[in-house]
Amino acid sequence: MKICMIGSGYVGLVSGSCFSELGNHVICVDNNLNKIISLKNGIIPIYEPGLEELIYRNVKQKRLKFSTNLSKSIQNSDIIFICVGTPTNKRTNEANLKYVFQVVSSIKKNLNKYKVIVNKSTVPITTGDKIEKILNIKINKNKFDVVSNPEFLREGEAIRDFMYPDRVVIGTSSKKANNILKNLYLPLTKKTNKYFHTSRRAAELIKYASNAFLATKITYINEISNLCEKLNIDVTDISVGIGSDERIGSRFLRAGPGYGGSCFPKDTRALLSISKKFKTNLSIVKSTVKSNDERIKYLQKRIKEIMKNSFKGKKITFLGVTFKAGTDDMRDASSLKLIPYLVKKGSRISYYDPTGIKSEFNRKKVKYYNNIKDACNNSDLLILHTEWNEFKQLNFNKLNPKKNLKIFDLRNLYSPVKMKKKNYEYYSIGR
Ligand code: UDX
Repeated sequence: MKICMIGSGYVGLVSGSCFSELGNHVICVDNNLNKIISLKNGIIPIYEPGLEELIYRNVKQKRLKFSTNLSKSIQNSDIIFICVGTPTNKRTNEANLKYVFQVVSSIKKNLNKYKVIVNKSTVPITTGDKIEKILNIKINKNKFDVVSNPEFLREGEAIRDFMYPDRVVIGTSSKKANNILKNLYLPLTKKTNKYFHTSRRAAELIKYASNAFLATKITYINEISNLCEKLNIDVTDISVGIGSDERIGSRFLRAGPGYGGSCFPKDTRALLSISKKFKTNLSIVKSTVKSNDERIKYLQKRIKEIMKNSFKGKKITFLGVTFKAGTDDMRDASSLKLIPYLVKKGSRISYYDPTGIKSEFNRKKVKYYNNIKDACNNSDLLILHTEWNEFKQLNFNKLNPKKNLKIFDLRNLYSPVKMKKKNYEYYSIGR
């Protein structure tokens, strides 16, 4: 199939490269000329394990191309994926659809033959109806169908999530469009029967409902972990004990600093704004958002207790600052709130991150180091902020031989029992 991915960001680039890996001819379009020039030179603008090699292989096989020419790319393609950003409108919490509608008006001008227009961006329910209206189904009858095909890609695992999906959700009332997409996804779904055809609005809601549920699951175990701390219970035992019930499932039950990233915070708020618009109270999602927003106060309180509220002149080291391991994405990372708080309290911050220096911390009293040892040297407190593998077997004595290092493990990477045996002053979450 000839595919055009409009938007070569995280979703468009990963999905487009994977489609080309499946043998399709894909053109990834973006209005950011520098991004396209980088891609044409083999420089990948996002950190995603395995993506560089995937792109290189398919560009070499001439199945994957990059362009800024939107009209030509649309005209030459049969399936058009809309993968542009839908940022949160800070005032209303609604998803801002201006980029989606800009792209739709370009598609409208280039309907030179029948096309399946597929929305992969996370959009409010009924957006497909609005797109159909803009394209004017009466004048352009049989020239297009509008489909919802939400993505469920985790940053750091995106290629695996695409190639081994738990499900492919296709929302359309058009048999023709459904058959075309069923064929497109066949290599991924034929053995596993994971192709799910539903209505377009249902597909749009499935995306939000999935992310909101996962965010709620994480928030649930985070609140349970607070109770565990009061009862001297290890929350990881609770995660295993409840997660082994197949009705609950063991994944997304790791207690931590709270969820961040480009999706959960945005999508939970967008779902609440949709529910408000359609006068339906989603009280559970509301409390999830509130609880997660407040988790930073819990982390600040914990650090104050660990430091006995003495911060002046103290050095605090962060190992990892992104919102989770496996990504360079800083969006809604808890470090963005913790570091300024600790600087304001009078401490000096050092940090190391496997994905390099962060512009978000170009400020006094915050210093980046390109290695763990120098970052930890002479530190008073070490905060394990993300769960990178290279943080999982540290020799803390070597890291800071001079003084007794306090360790606050936000990801429960170590065993409290073993750390106690080694006389470390070790703190973690829910234990
Ligand atoms: C998420 C969804 O998983 C994915 O399906 C959707 O398409 C995009 O949003 P992503 O945001 O990349 O993916 O990361 P994810 O691995 O889901 O983690 C989200 C946040 O939850 C991170 O801050 C992570 O640290 C946190 N998390 C995740 C936990 O605190 N505990 C867990 O057990 C899992």
